[in-house]
Amino acid sequence: MSDILLGQVLSFDADPFTAGLQAARHETRGAVVVENGKILAHGPADALRAAHPTARVTDYGKCLISAGFIDAHVHYPQTAIIASWGKRLIDWLNSYTFPEEMRFADPAYAAQISNRYLDLALAHGTTSMCSYATIHPQSVEAFFTAASARGLRAYAGKTCMDRNAPAGLQDSAQSAYDDSKALLQRWHGAGRLSYVITPRFSPTSSPDQLAALGALWAEHPDCLMQTHLSEQIDEIAWVRELYPAARDYLDTYEAHGLLGSRGVYGHAIHLTEREKHRLREVDASLVHCPTSNTFIGSGLFDITLARDIRVGLATDTGGGSSFSMLRTMAAAYEVAQLRGKALHPAELWWLATAGSARALHAQDHIGNISKGIEADLIILDLASTPAIAQASARAEDIWQALFPTIMLGDDRAIRATWIGGKPSP
Ligand code: GUN
Ligand code: ZN
Repeated sequence: MSDILLGQVLSFDADPFTAGLQAARHETRGAVVVENGKILAHGPADALRAAHPTARVTDYGKCLISAGFIDAHVHYPQTAIIASWGKRLIDWLNSYTFPEEMRFADPAYAAQISNRYLDLALAHGTTSMCSYATIHPQSVEAFFTAASARGLRAYAGKTCMDRNAPAGLQDSAQSAYDDSKALLQRWHGAGRLSYVITPRFSPTSSPDQLAALGALWAEHPDCLMQTHLSEQIDEIAWVRELYPAARDYLDTYEAHGLLGSRGVYGHAIHLTEREKHRLREVDASLVHCPTSNTFIGSGLFDITLARDIRVGLATDTGGGSSFSMLRTMAAAYEVAQLRGKALHPAELWWLATAGSARALHAQDHIGNISKGIEADLIILDLASTPAIAQASARAEDIWQALFPTIMLGDDRAIRATWIGGKPSP
């Protein structure tokens, strides 16, 4: 049985950062045909209805059908401490994050927050995510169990830390290697789940731990490796003290086998020319977390890096101040404006969907409406509140119609969600 979804359809033939605006494709009266969990075809509604006369029709009227959002960097265990007041990165970690992450020693709490986070993510139109867990293996078990129950393509890993964290939140070089390996063997490639090797960041890992995780990555090069890079000036100064022989922050990873094309580096705000050059050279991915960068006071990411480096977009919940990738796109727009660039709605939408997929090397599976891509779809009401409706009513094209939802929208804009070709309850 196939399904045909009718509405406005937004998809990408290419990356708008390199190919320009013609990379985006919009059908005013379009259709997406879904079969066996994947997209079979998309195009004008009349032609596709004629070609698939027996398909079950769901008509979303003037709503916009898009690939679901992909949050390329999130800490699901920080769900309950989102919007915690008044601290910058290191104090914020010590005051709010580490005490909360301690609670994930309890598998029941880990399960409760996994379910809460995933329900919130789906309500906001996020259909895939790449999450940090805590140091506890059971925090990964809980997250993957909850993601699998919802049929999601999800990425996560045990966060490894063996110094500069409370005693109850430290592993060791050997246990980080052993626990990560056991989780990887259990979950990587199980259904739609992927394990991500996850040293938190250089300040909370000894050189021995970074080397152990570098060795694990070398044994499993098809895995992603995620970490944080150059988020705040104070943090970078601390890394310089902790790793006096390193040329720069990136070198603390590079020297321990943690720089590569499947490396996913969160924040990456205050990069040196050498770091940019090496990231480009190895084809690594950066993740832009704009609500976090303003909320914790980190700085302004240079989005022009997206012209020749893989860049994804992310909430960084709970350093980020929203679960919504719409709010995140709005923040990305504002951060870019402060650096003199007005991001086009097509560029913002690409970052939240296909760009994040590409940053996670998942572009053949998710992040776009294209034949053979898995049918994780969201249906957006482009007039979801009176404020948005009155602004979009004046629109003369899709971009003017979409931009008020990007700047003012939230979970109220998400009218429906399809996961793996099925409507989500
Ligand atoms: N750097 C190391 N850990 C974290 C974290 O949990 N959140 C953010 N924003 N930065 C980090
Ligand atoms: Zn983070």
